[in-house]
Amino acid sequence: CGIVGYTGSRPVKDILISGLERLEYRGYDSAGIAVEEEDGLQIVHRKGKVASLAHTVDHFDFAGTCGIGHTRWATHGRPSEANAHPHASCDGHIAVVHNGIIENFTELREELEAEGHAFTSDTDTETIAHLVEELYEDDLLEAVREATQRLIGAYAIAVISDREPGTIIAARKDSPLVVGRGTDGSFVASDIIALIDDTRDVVMLGDGEIAKLRPDFIDYYNAYGERFVPQTTHIDWDVDVAEKGGYPDFMMKEIHEQPRVIRDTLSGRLADGRLSIDELDLTHEELNLIDRVYVIACGTSYHAGLIAKNLIEGWARIPCEVEVASEFRYRNPIITPTTLVVAVSQSGETADTLAAIRDARVKGAKVFGITNVVGSPVARESDGVIYTKANKEIAVASTKSFLGQVVSLTLLALLLAQVKGKFKTNQVRLLFRELADTAEQVEHILSDTAAIDEAACACKDAKSALFVGRGMGAAIANEGALKLKEISYLHAEAYPAGEMKHGPIALIDEGFPVIAVATKSPVYDKLVSNLQEAKARGAMVVAVATEGDEDIRAHADHVIYIPKVRDAFSAITASVPLQLFARAIAIERGCDVDQPRNLAKSVTVE
Ligand code: G6P
Repeated sequence: CGIVGYTGSRPVKDILISGLERLEYRGYDSAGIAVEEEDGLQIVHRKGKVASLAHTVDHFDFAGTCGIGHTRWATHGRPSEANAHPHASCDGHIAVVHNGIIENFTELREELEAEGHAFTSDTDTETIAHLVEELYEDDLLEAVREATQRLIGAYAIAVISDREPGTIIAARKDSPLVVGRGTDGSFVASDIIALIDDTRDVVMLGDGEIAKLRPDFIDYYNAYGERFVPQTTHIDWDVDVAEKGGYPDFMMKEIHEQPRVIRDTLSGRLADGRLSIDELDLTHEELNLIDRVYVIACGTSYHAGLIAKNLIEGWARIPCEVEVASEFRYRNPIITPTTLVVAVSQSGETADTLAAIRDARVKGAKVFGITNVVGSPVARESDGVIYTKANKEIAVASTKSFLGQVVSLTLLALLLAQVKGKFKTNQVRLLFRELADTAEQVEHILSDTAAIDEAACACKDAKSALFVGRGMGAAIANEGALKLKEISYLHAEAYPAGEMKHGPIALIDEGFPVIAVATKSPVYDKLVSNLQEAKARGAMVVAVATEGDEDIRAHADHVIYIPKVRDAFSAITASVPLQLFARAIAIERGCDVDQPRNLAKSVTVE
């Protein structure tokens, strides 16, 4: 979900709507705003996207200069107008927007209902509005502070009351919130992107902290109610990340940014044949002692982990397990002081990944974060961090961040191999150069997409598709399948090609699409045999293959050629055509590629 709030001298309505448009990637089930007008709080909600809310409020002549807004990804209560935020107290004097989940909301709701509070929605958020109303005497800050002490769970909230015009109280725990001063007012939002037109110096509110925003100042309080002076973070990326820059959608723009991401992620990492990842903050000796690696992540980031496993085990010879964070956190994994946990998260705020980091640290592991967001919770809570340099990613389905993660994890694997003495300086230099060359190879792939579009056109009406590969290709297939199902709603499943005969082959009949990562690798011949098995049953095979491989044509209906790279780097190149393939099918099927249904870019709830 996305939160935005402003108090200052400008009319707030348009600021809230444009902030919500920027935040829409965080959820788009419903949206709403609350504005302080002369005659009290005015709240407007709409089911559906921000555009529908914008259209409605166009007809409202709001003059208020203080307000809050929200775009929702439903957790408690289905997407509906009644469940859309902001939520108000019974007396209508208090309005609240909230991200996260209040775990004890049923208990609080029963207690408040017994006190006579009438609820109008199914949400956990409405409980906060009633609770603040119940606790309010004459100080909104104090009432919110007391209310937060009763909340169990995750929250980022912004609260206003027409009893204290011009004041916004913002508080958070386990859900992000940034605050900043512009030239004509104070802003709060769940993501910098909503503030960036007005301020570059922001404060990332910490857990348990509360900010009181006034038109001309912001005060910060810790969990004990003591004032403090926070640290500000300067944002140096450009406003144009929020624009499509001539591309038809953000996904296409972000796919095309990938050569730059590779270059930026690698920039400054090699000096005199030695890799420098100083941010990891571990000595050579400490790194050398590492004898087990867990990569924990969700979604696309998890797939970057699957690729890393091949490299960490193959190069550094350290056992590496990759696990989805929501499983890892509830298991009892084997962790010792020489275990390294690598937490991968584009947003740096995924609830399950954060919980897994905390758990791993309590159990004594060192934790490295790999994230795209400077100062994010994953960055703050890890022992060391590598930033992926993708810059803000707007399309919900991750592309450039994924590539940044794969490149960063490749660097980490290379570092571990170097420290463990598996590679000599010359080898490191050579591998690094080849890794850097992938930027140009990706540019080459992006320069001619005719074969990809043709294959996509052939598959667009399928009901289901199978993505297969072996070795590194099997890991890549997972991300290919996820991309397709996320944005085109076409069912897709990834399987190691050798496993096809143990089940999925039963799905194959005439014209069933089998998308194969068939680049030259040590298991290429084995894969070709699997493709023959699929073709013999009528499959329509689309192969991502290495340039110059003419033999593959005998086993595939459509071939997408990509430049030759070392198998270790094939994830970087082979993923790009699969991203374009998924996008082309989604477009053919009339889907919204940037904001697929039911998904949100950043999942700050469990
Ligand atoms: C959501 C997004 C995915 C993303 C996943 C993990 O599901 O829609 O694109 O891969 O979260 O997010 P993270 O920010 O932790 O990488």
